[in-house]
Amino acid sequence: MAFATRHFVRAASSAAATAAAKKLIIKHVTVIGGGLMGAGIAQVAATSGHTVVLVDQSEDILKKSTKGIEESLKRVTKKKFADKPEAGAEFVEKTLKNITTSTDAGAVVHSTDLVIEAIVENLEVKNELFKRLDKFAPEYVRTIFASNTSSLPITQMANSTTRQDRFGGLHFFNPVPMMKLVEVIKTPMTSQKTFESLVDFSKAVGKSPVSCKDTPGFVVNRLLVPYLMEAVRLFERGDASKEDIDVAMKLGAGYPMGPFELLDYVGLDTTKYIIDGWHALEPNNPLFAPSPLLNKLVQEKKLGKKTGEGFYKYK
Ligand code: NAI
Repeated sequence: MAFATRHFVRAASSAAATAAAKKLIIKHVTVIGGGLMGAGIAQVAATSGHTVVLVDQSEDILKKSTKGIEESLKRVTKKKFADKPEAGAEFVEKTLKNITTSTDAGAVVHSTDLVIEAIVENLEVKNELFKRLDKFAPEYVRTIFASNTSSLPITQMANSTTRQDRFGGLHFFNPVPMMKLVEVIKTPMTSQKTFESLVDFSKAVGKSPVSCKDTPGFVVNRLLVPYLMEAVRLFERGDASKEDIDVAMKLGAGYPMGPFELLDYVGLDTTKYIIDGWHALEPNNPLFAPSPLLNKLVQEKKLGKKTGEGFYKYK
């Protein structure tokens, strides 16, 4: 029995060593989309020593993006290196050197370990991008593709390529440098090796990964969005005022923001877009039912904080 156990342990550890040896150690990353999320992802990847190519549609957007990264890095280092400002400046300079930019993803994708897509939340546009990139990173190239989508099916994006085994989801949270969570999404075709490489990458950039299947909203949004919609329905029925619902959830559930404050912060259009997509997928699921009030506010361009009015008014 002792021999069997020893033999089993040796076999298991050698299997683990082989699997680890096969895992792709991610060093070079291409981030496509230099907006709110892409810039944040590029920042955390560069900060942790990865080389990053940030891709967007124009030099102007990229300039704005890198300026934003530099300012964000300076803010972070000011606190971290409060006693040693010179070391802080050196850190910012070294981190920025890890980031280059390009307007042509096709030209850089063959020399990258991981492509993270963070462009507009539109399945057709994302599929088109992945299909094009797949041609530049042919079958024999090991590059992993990942999407940062909040609500779209990863499986459908993977199916627009020939590398379904090297395709997964990496869902970061906003603001990326602050938020510790990454949801790592495994489709039925994602290989274990790809999944483990994505988990390792998430840890390497200082995040805490959780894993989830390719299901609408993954973990956080699947729980959060129906909760926000229920709050709107409660208010729509006249059961309680929006102010009281916000106070109730802050004081009764210990949430830092009430649901209407959070809806205004996230953007009502974003929540409507997510719920409409899920409703189309599962029209009989009452949790995914659209709300006439939310639709009306979006139609009136009352999108929340960003437009000065949503459920509340802002100066
Ligand atoms: P954003 O609008 O701030 O940035 C998108 C960027 O992609 C823009 O700079 C745009 O010029 C660029 N872009 C669009 N099409 C492109 C293409 N074909 N090639 C290269 N660049 C292209 O959007 P944001 O908020 O950064 O969202 C990006 C993705 O991240 C979306 O899928 C969104 O659902 C997801 N996400 C957003 C979160 C948020 O709080 N904003 C949170 C988590 C995920």
